[in-house]
Amino acid sequence: MMRTAIYPGSFDPVTFGHLDIIHRASKIFDHLIVGVLSNQSKQPLFAVEERVDMLREVVKELPNVEITSFSGLLVDFARACNSQVVIRGLRAITDFEYELQMSQTNHIMNPDLDTVFFTTDLKYSYLSSSTVREVAYFHGDISAFVPPLVEQEMHKKFSDMK
Ligand code: PNS
Repeated sequence: MMRTAIYPGSFDPVTFGHLDIIHRASKIFDHLIVGVLSNQSKQPLFAVEERVDMLREVVKELPNVEITSFSGLLVDFARACNSQVVIRGLRAITDFEYELQMSQTNHIMNPDLDTVFFTTDLKYSYLSSSTVREVAYFHGDISAFVPPLVEQEMHKKFSDMK
């Protein structure tokens, strides 16, 4: 039986922390679908197509990883993907409350759906897309946080804004 998992998120932008989870999950599951949330109310820095394109580029060497966008409920996206597993990363205890709430809610809406948590690698446990956006906004060095392509796109984005 082919095991498909989905890894949903905003990925605004994708960081080394996300990539670490994608690599690890792609070894455990036959097929990993990364779902990029397209949500108007969240007002992202990058349009969903830009986030999808960056992700595609940085995972292109992983043959069993697919990148796609989704909108609406995660449970519906999971159903459409024929997946019963949601992957999420846990960095620290502060992530736990929100993640537990989300996984319980999703499990009630679809009892066949389970969330599998990966503990992030310690070297990325401090990392978040929002701090990367903040550092890049002030033209700080983000090369320790994101792949070179994402670094370029972020600098472009912030120089366009001026
Ligand atoms: O990277 P993020 O922003 O932490 O990811 C959050 C995400 C996309 C997993 C979450 O916001 C989500 O699943 N949104 C879709 C809408 C939904 O299903 N909400 C109810 C979950 S309790």
